[in-house]
Amino acid sequence: MAIQPRDNFSGKFGVIAAAAGSAVGLGNIWRFPYITGENGGGAFLLIYVFFVIAIGVPVMMSEFVIGRRSGSNALGSFRKLAPGTPWWLIGLMGIVAAFVILSFYSTVSGWTLEYIFQAINGGFAGKSMEQLNSDFGSFTSGSFRPVLWQIIFMIMTTVIVIGGIQKGIEKATRIMMPVLLILIIAVCVRSVTLPGATEGLRFLFEPHFEKLTFKAVLMALGQAAFSLSIGMGALITYGSYIRKDTPLLATSLQVAGADTLLAILSGVMIFPALSALGMGNTGGPGLVFVTLPAIFQSMPGGYIFAIVFFILISVAALTSTISVLEVVVAYMKEEFNISRFKASLIGAVSITALGVVCTLSFGLLKDFTIFGMTVFDLMNYLSANVFLTFGALFIVIFTGWKLGKLNFIDELNQGGKISPLLARIIIFIIKYVAPLAIGSIAIGAFFIDGLT
Ligand code: TRP
Repeated sequence: MAIQPRDNFSGKFGVIAAAAGSAVGLGNIWRFPYITGENGGGAFLLIYVFFVIAIGVPVMMSEFVIGRRSGSNALGSFRKLAPGTPWWLIGLMGIVAAFVILSFYSTVSGWTLEYIFQAINGGFAGKSMEQLNSDFGSFTSGSFRPVLWQIIFMIMTTVIVIGGIQKGIEKATRIMMPVLLILIIAVCVRSVTLPGATEGLRFLFEPHFEKLTFKAVLMALGQAAFSLSIGMGALITYGSYIRKDTPLLATSLQVAGADTLLAILSGVMIFPALSALGMGNTGGPGLVFVTLPAIFQSMPGGYIFAIVFFILISVAALTSTISVLEVVVAYMKEEFNISRFKASLIGAVSITALGVVCTLSFGLLKDFTIFGMTVFDLMNYLSANVFLTFGALFIVIFTGWKLGKLNFIDELNQGGKISPLLARIIIFIIKYVAPLAIGSIAIGAFFIDGLT
């Protein structure tokens, strides 16, 4: 293949903005609070943070190492590092995972746009929970509006990806990530100053270890993996654009730190508001689209905060969707030698086609089920329980057992040396601890119901 100059991130901040953008998404704002709420609050949080540091960071580093060492897309990188072996299948699984994730993720992302629009129109005013719940049901079970918003969201994603790494993804995330942080802090301040807010904070931070079931522990690990965007090659792809003078350990720690901070801030934004308004601490996925609008419409300044809130979730979602699309685009561009523009269009259109089926599975196609699940539920299930967990498992096995210690340490040391003791600990985790821990969620997922 002809050697073409590769686009790259301009430096450390660009990488962090893009990778943290990938990590911080619907998982932090839409998924983390309700999973935490259902699994014992503070105790769950503690385990979650432990997994991020002990497992998440080493796996993230593995992905960056694989990407930068090979300078290639998610599939090409395995082919380069382990030629003539079937390891490229992991990369292929990542590309398939990108399709699956983006299809259902763009459904929910589209909903967030509808809710910005409704918030601006004052659509929640004076409505009870029941009404908001039925509004949400009738919106999601419709066809035209949810599909239209999904397509608009995919167009925004595609436009950024067409711009390339430095001029598209880096530029967009450099602006959006600080904006996101400011918006979240603004809503947090509003939420914790509501009377009765302390109860919610206590729920989020006070550990109750009796609630930590085996299932909760597995869910914490699954959520950590999903939230850090590990397991499908998004970070391999981004890793391939990282310059050699960027330190990978520090970068991984900062990205994981930013992701965890934003997950905790989402909790701080949501739980005090729930307790202040006397709502229960648990809530399913409807939390964001039903309970929060109910809260907004009854709190001072709620009109503005509702708009800000739904804008912030869409921004968080957009910085993630671009990284998923980039996995597919980098693959097609490099393996089939087509232009970025063409790859982006082909990728986006085919993902949107599957995405529309996910969106319609709340209405028109709700009776069309496979293994008893609608297409949306199946995609959600497959991504969290199959693709991401097995992806992460094989990625650490590859790094620990195939790539070789010397290669791994050599790549890690480019851009900043790490101490030999630390290197030994990291290798130990990647070789033994991470595969065992991730292997147990992968297997547990088949036996424990409702692990997503
Ligand atoms: N991390 C994203 C979130 O928290 C979702 C996600 C999971 C993702 N896997 C990914 C994003 C892979 C990009 C690439 O919402």
